[in-house]
Amino acid sequence: MAHKMTDKVTWVGKIDWELRRFHGDEYSTHRGSSYNSYLIKDDKTVLIDTVWEPFAEEFVENLKKEIDLNEIDYIIAQHAEIDHSGALPLLLKEIPDVPIYCTSNGAKILKAHFHEDWNFVEVKTGDELEIGENKLIFVEARMLHWPDTMFTYMTGENILFSNDAFGQHYASELMYNDLVDQGELYQEAIKYYANILTPFSSLVTNKIKEVLEFNLSVDMIATSHGIIWRDNPVQIIEKYLEWADAYQENQITIVYDTMWNATRRMAEAIAEGIRAVDKDVSIKLFNAANSDKNDIITELFKSKAILFGSSTVNKSIMHATGGILDMIKGIGFKNKKGAAFGSYGWSGESVGILEERLKDAKIEIVQEGIKELWNPDEESMNRCIEFGKEFVGKL
Ligand code: FEO
Repeated sequence: MAHKMTDKVTWVGKIDWELRRFHGDEYSTHRGSSYNSYLIKDDKTVLIDTVWEPFAEEFVENLKKEIDLNEIDYIIAQHAEIDHSGALPLLLKEIPDVPIYCTSNGAKILKAHFHEDWNFVEVKTGDELEIGENKLIFVEARMLHWPDTMFTYMTGENILFSNDAFGQHYASELMYNDLVDQGELYQEAIKYYANILTPFSSLVTNKIKEVLEFNLSVDMIATSHGIIWRDNPVQIIEKYLEWADAYQENQITIVYDTMWNATRRMAEAIAEGIRAVDKDVSIKLFNAANSDKNDIITELFKSKAILFGSSTVNKSIMHATGGILDMIKGIGFKNKKGAAFGSYGWSGESVGILEERLKDAKIEIVQEGIKELWNPDEESMNRCIEFGKEFVGKL
C-alpha cells in the first residue's frame, strides 16, 4: 500500500513483517524490515530504489496503481544490493529504456548481478538532475556500506534519501520516527549501526561532515529500511557521529560458552567481582550458544570492556564463542579492553586461544586470563571473583 509523504513524494515500498534473517543468516531481524522505494512526481517522474526480488511482482503491480509505468522518466538506483535492486529486472521488462542513474560502481555491480545492458547514467558527487520545480543532487557514499552506495537530496522538499545509512530493520506501518515506540526504534537503529556500519565508522564521520558542508536543510531523512526520520531528523545524524567515534557506554559484557556450566559459573563469579568494585557499571552476560549473535554484537559495541570465556574442547574453544570472535574481528571495534577465562579438564588451551583471538580482533588484553580445572570449588570461585575485581581496576 502506497503512502503519500508530501505533495510530490510517495512511499511505494514493501513492509516485510515476516523477515527474521537478513544477509543469509548474518543479521537477525526480530522486528521484520521494510524495503523503501520512493516515487517523485514533479514535472518529471522519478523512482528511487525498488524492493527485494521476492516482492518484485507485488511491487510492480502496486506501482501501476500509482502511475502508468511509461510515465517514469528516471530511476535512481542508490545501491545495487538486491534488497533494493531486486525488482529492477521485472520493472525494466516493461520500461526497458528508462535511464538508471547510479554511481559507476553501481552500474558495474548491477551489470554483474543482472547481466543486462540497461540504460545506465553514471553520476558522481555534486551532479544534479532537474526534475521540474525541484532538483535532485547526488552524493556518493562509497563503502556506506558498499562501494556503489549513494545518497540523493531533493531540493524544495528538503528530503535526503539516504539508502541504508540511518536505517533500521524495523517493520512499522506508522512510517515515521515520531509515531513509533522510541525504545524499539533506538534499539533497531543502534543494532543496525553496530552490526553493519561499525567497520566504516571513519567514512561515516567524513561523509557526514562532507554532507554538512553542502549546508542543506534536511526536513526528512528517507532511508531504505525502516521508518523515515521527519521529527528532528538531525538526531540520527548526531547519533551516527557519536557511534562512529569509538562509541562506548559504562558497560562490561561477558560472552561465554559452557559445556557443563563450569565456565558459566566462572562468568558469574567474575561479574560478582566486577560488581564488588564498581556499583555503577552495567554488566551483561551472554551465553553465545543460546543468544542472538547480532544482539551480542550490539551489546559489545556499547561496552568499554569485554570478557570471553569458553571451556576447552578438543584442544580448542567452543564454536559459538569462535563465531562471535570472527564477527568482532571483521567489524573492527576500537578502544575496547578485554580478558579471557575458561574451565578445562586436562589440556586447557581455551584461554590462550581466546586471548589470541581477542588480540587478533584488536581488543587490548589488560590482564592474563584465568582457567579453572573441572568444576570450580569455593576456592576457584573466589579466584574468579578476585579476577573480576582486578579486571575492573585496570579499565
Ligand atoms: Fe539494504 Fe545494503 O542493502
